[in-house]
Amino acid sequence: MPVAVITGANRGIGLELTRQYLEEGWTVYALIRSSSAALDELAGGGSLELINCDLTDDGQLKKAAAQIAAPAVDLLLNCAGTMGHGSFEEQGLKFQSFGSFDREEWRRVFDINVFTPQSLTELLADRLAAAERGVVATLTSMLGSNQLNTAGSLYGYRASKAAVNSIMKSMGIDLGKRGVIAVALHPGWVRTDMGGKHADVEVVDSAAGLRKVVAGLTADDAGAFVAYDGTRMPW
Ligand SMILES: NC(=O)c1ccc[n+]([C@@H]2O[C@H](COP(=O)([O-])OP(=O)(O)OC[C@H]3O[C@@H](n4cnc5c(N)ncnc54)[C@H](OP(=O)(O)O)[C@@H]3O)[C@@H](O)[C@H]2O)c1
Repeated sequence: MPVAVITGANRGIGLELTRQYLEEGWTVYALIRSSSAALDELAGGGSLELINCDLTDDGQLKKAAAQIAAPAVDLLLNCAGTMGHGSFEEQGLKFQSFGSFDREEWRRVFDINVFTPQSLTELLADRLAAAERGVVATLTSMLGSNQLNTAGSLYGYRASKAAVNSIMKSMGIDLGKRGVIAVALHPGWVRTDMGGKHADVEVVDSAAGLRKVVAGLTADDAGAFVAYDGTRMPW
């Protein structure tokens, strides 16, 4: 059975991806800071392993990686992420606007959105390389695209997603030499806690689309930025 490691699997897009990969018969290692009733219900499937850790602590990430029994990892999905305090749903583009810089807030956003994908991918690189076709995919956002930014604001979140886009581009080159395909994925504007109730994509459809994109990746896609519907995104 193929093996996936998924962060942020307790809710939102990470939870739905976990559900769908389990349905497909994958073994899923869920790296979470705490579980949820919805994730615990999935645990009955038999091929789900929950690993609790502070995803922003490299020592704990190292211990979590060591708990993954599988010698080869087919897919690492970095889903865990945050917009920070406040809410796009309630504040729209007034959120993280120019003039509201908060250093600690930016640190928290970058910690999980940028540093964790880098750290965890480094920890699992050998096991991704041991798979027949290892893939590391990080959920970034169209809000990290400089070309698509016509509205401004959301400084911390946009900057974090642009940073992790850059990371995935470099990994596409570096890990590509080891047969691992690294990509940045935009999940759409999805109806989750983060996306809010006005978002136009159901979490089930986003996850199904992302799985299809991941399944179709070839070495030529290494370092690409792709949306859940297969559209190539501009940087
Ligand atoms: N929803 C959208 O419209 C949208 C659009 C573009 C990109 N994305 C990206 O897609 C990913 C998933 O988003 P979502 O909509 O599923 O968000 P969500 O429903 O808000 O879920 C966020 C997930 O990230 C985890 N997380 C956040 N901060 C964490 C931290 N410091 N340590 C460990 N885990 C942390 C949460 O765990 P806890 O329950 O422990 O907080 C939760 O599992 C994110 O990277 C997001 O930026 C989402």
